[in-house]
Amino acid sequence: MYLSDLSLDNFRSYKDLVLSLSPGPTAFVGPNGQGKTNLVEAVAYMATLSSHRVGADTALVRRAPPGSSQPQGAVLRAKVVHTDRPTVLEIEIIAGKANRARINRGNCRPRDLLGILRAVVFAPEDLAVVREEPGLRRRLLDDLAVALRPGLASVLAEHSKILAQRASLLKSARAARSSATGTRSVISTLEVWDAQLADVASRLIAARIEVLRRLRPWVESSYETVSVGRSSVHAAYRSSLDAHERTGDPDPQRKETWHETEEALRDPAAVAVRLRTAMAQLHEREIDRGANLVGAHRDDLSLFLGGLPARGFASHGEQWSLALALRLASYEMLRHSADTYGGDSEPVLILDDVFASLDQQRRRALAKMVANAQQVLLTAAVDADVPAELNGARFHVLGGKVTND
Ligand SMILES: Nc1ncnc2c1ncn2[C@@H]1O[C@H](COP(=O)(O)OP(=O)(O)O)[C@@H](O)[C@H]1O
Ligand SMILES: [Mg+2]
Repeated sequence: MYLSDLSLDNFRSYKDLVLSLSPGPTAFVGPNGQGKTNLVEAVAYMATLSSHRVGADTALVRRAPPGSSQPQGAVLRAKVVHTDRPTVLEIEIIAGKANRARINRGNCRPRDLLGILRAVVFAPEDLAVVREEPGLRRRLLDDLAVALRPGLASVLAEHSKILAQRASLLKSARAARSSATGTRSVISTLEVWDAQLADVASRLIAARIEVLRRLRPWVESSYETVSVGRSSVHAAYRSSLDAHERTGDPDPQRKETWHETEEALRDPAAVAVRLRTAMAQLHEREIDRGANLVGAHRDDLSLFLGGLPARGFASHGEQWSLALALRLASYEMLRHSADTYGGDSEPVLILDDVFASLDQQRRRALAKMVANAQQVLLTAAVDADVPAELNGARFHVLGGKVTND
C-alpha cells in the first residue's frame, strides 16, 4: 500500500497542508524545527491512533500564536491506495474530547481506522525502546499485534480498563483493611475481577507471542545487516506469570527454556487458569501495594546481545543498531503477513532523521535494505543525508511550508 494524499488542518505546526505523494522514496528535507517530524507523525498517528512522541493528544492540536484564535481541534486526512481500491481516512482530534473518525466519508469509531493504513516508523526516540522501561517494548508488540489483527484493539482497550478498575479496588481494599468483613467481601469481588483480567490478559499474551515468533527471524537478520555482523541478538518474551511460578527468570543463555515458556503461553485457556492461581496467591501482597502484580501488563520483551541484556550492557552504538533492527524487522514482518491481513499488507516505511547518525557503511546497508520498499518517507536536515539509493521525490520543509522541487 501507499499513501497518495495527505491533508492536515491545525495539526502541530501546520495550519493547513495538502500533499500528493507517490510510491517509492520521498524525502522531506529542511533545517531542525521546521516541521519534518510533525509531518511524519501525522502519518503514524493515522496508522496507530497514537503519536510516537507524546502521550497526550492535546499537544497535537496547533497552538495559535498570541492574538489569533486558538483552534479547537486538528483534522488529518489520508488517501491510502491498496492494490484494489483507495480508502479515504479522516480523524478529528478534539482538545479534551474523544476523537471522531470517518472512512470514505462515513462515520465510524476511531478504532475502525486501525489496520487500514499500516506504517512502521523509525525515529531517534526509538533508542528508548531498547534502553528504558518495559512499557515501550510492550507497546511495540501490542502495536504489531493490532496491525496483524485489528480486532485485538478491543481486547487491549478492555485490558487497560480492567487493570484500572482492579487497581482501584485493591487500593480501596487497602484502606478498608481494618475490618474483617470488609476484607472478605473484597476478596470475593476481587475474584470476579481476577477472572476477567485473566481472560483478556491471556489473549493479549498469546497475541504477543505470535508477533514475537514472526518477528524474531527478521530481528536477527536485520540486526546482522545494520550492525554489520558484530554480535548475535536474542529477543525473548519475559513473562511475569512465569517468573512468579518459577520464582525467577530463565538463564538468558538457555534459549530452550525461553522457548518452552513461550510455547506454554500460546494457549490462552491454560494461561488464564495459571493467572487466576497466581493472582489468588498474590492477593495479600496486591492489597499491600494497591497494585496489579502479575499479568500481561508486567511482562517484557527481553533483548540480549551476545547473551547479555542489551539494556544496561550494550554500547550506545549497539543499542542504536538494535532499535533500528527492531523497526526494520517490524516492517519485514508486516509486509510478509498477507496470510493474516488478506490483501496488500505492505506497510509505509517512515525513517525520521535516521541517516545522519549512521556511519557510511551502515547507511549503505540500510539504504539497500529499504530501497525496494513500496513507499518510504524519510526526513533529513540536509540533502546530503539522503542516500543515493533513496533518490526519489523531494520536498523542502521550511517554516511550516512544504514545497516540491
Ligand atoms: N501543537 C503545536 N502547535 C504549534 N507548533 C507546534 C506544535 N507542536 C510542535 N510545534 C512546533 O513544531 C516545531 C518542531 O517541528 P518538528 O517537526 O519536530 O521539526 P523537525 O523539522 O526538526 O523534525 C517546533 O518549532 C514546535 O514549536
Ligand atoms: Mg525531527
